[in-house]
Amino acid sequence: MSLDAQILQALRARGSEAISGAELSQKLGITRAAIGARIEALQQLGYEIEASPHHGYRLLSAPDVLHADDLSWRLAPNRRIGRDIRVFEQTTSTNDVIEKLARDGAGEGAVVFAESQTQGRGRLGRAWISPAHKGLWFSVLLRPNLTPQAATQLTVASATALRAAIESRTGLKVEIKWPNDILIAGKKVAGILTELSAELDRIKYVLVGIGVDVNLTVEDFSPELRAQATSLRIELGKPVVRIELAAAILTELDRQYGRVLDGEFSSVADEWESHCSTLGQRLVIQLGQRRLCGRAESLGEDGALLLRTDHGHLERIVGGDVTVEK
Ligand code: BTN
Repeated sequence: MSLDAQILQALRARGSEAISGAELSQKLGITRAAIGARIEALQQLGYEIEASPHHGYRLLSAPDVLHADDLSWRLAPNRRIGRDIRVFEQTTSTNDVIEKLARDGAGEGAVVFAESQTQGRGRLGRAWISPAHKGLWFSVLLRPNLTPQAATQLTVASATALRAAIESRTGLKVEIKWPNDILIAGKKVAGILTELSAELDRIKYVLVGIGVDVNLTVEDFSPELRAQATSLRIELGKPVVRIELAAAILTELDRQYGRVLDGEFSSVADEWESHCSTLGQRLVIQLGQRRLCGRAESLGEDGALLLRTDHGHLERIVGGDVTVEK
C-alpha cells in the first residue's frame, strides 16, 4: 500500500477524531515532515484534511476523484481484479490502454480508469460519450484459462456484477438487457464492451471495458440519446460518490469472475436470469446482414442467448444488435 493510502486509511479509521503527526509518523515509519508533505499533496487533490498543531490531522471530506490508492484500500487484499489499478486523467479509450498493457505482459486483474475518454467506444462500433469526472470509464484485463467460445460467460458475469453493485449502492431497481446493457426504468445506464485476443482453442486475454453513466445530467446526453439513456444521478435525484461505486463494482466483478473460474457459471447464470428483462420477450436481432425474430428462451451453458425463432428453431446468439419488441 502506498503512503497516501496508508495515511488515508489511518485518518478514516479515526473517524471524527484527530490523529497526531507523531502517531502517524510512528505508524508509517517516516518523519513528521514527510507526513506533512503527503498531507499537503492529498489536500491539493481535494481531500479536506484539518491540520491542528495540538490535535493533529482529521479527514473532513474526500473529493469525488478516482485515486488509485484510495480505491485499492477499499478492496479485499486477496482479490484477483484490481491488483494493479491505474487512473488517467484522459485517455483515448481505456480498452486501448489496457490492450497495450496486456501486450506488454501485464498481469491478470489490472484495471485502467480514465476520468475522461476522447474516443470511448461501445459495441457495434458506436461512440461512447465519456465526460470528465462524471462517470466510471474503465477496463479490466483477464487471462482466464477458457476456450474462446466460453468468453460470453465473462460478459454475463460482468453484467451480473455490474447490476448487483449498482443496485446495492443506489437502491434503484436495475435490470440486464442481454448481452451487456444495464438498464434502469427501461433506459440504459451502463454498458460492457468485451474484446478478446485468442488462438483457436485458447483465450490469450480478455479486455472487459465498462462504462457507467454515474453523475451525467440530461444536458450531457445528446437529444437523440435522452430517450434511451440515463444516469444514476438523474434516476436518484442526487450525485453518487464514484469511488465507492467503483469499489463495489470491482468487488462484485472479482466475486463473479471467481465463480466462472471455479466452474460455477450456472450460479452466475441463475443470478443473471433472475434480473434479466430480455428473457421471455420477443426480440429482433440484427446479426450483420442477418435478421432473426423470436422469443428469448434462456441462457445457454456457455453464456449464449437461446432464441426460439418464429420458425421454431433454437438459435444460439452470441452477439448482434438486440431490439425488444413492445
Ligand atoms: C456498450 O454498451 O456499447 C459498451 C460500452 C462500453 C463503454 C466502456 S467505457 C470504458 C471502456 N472504454 C471504451 O472505449 N469503452 C468501454
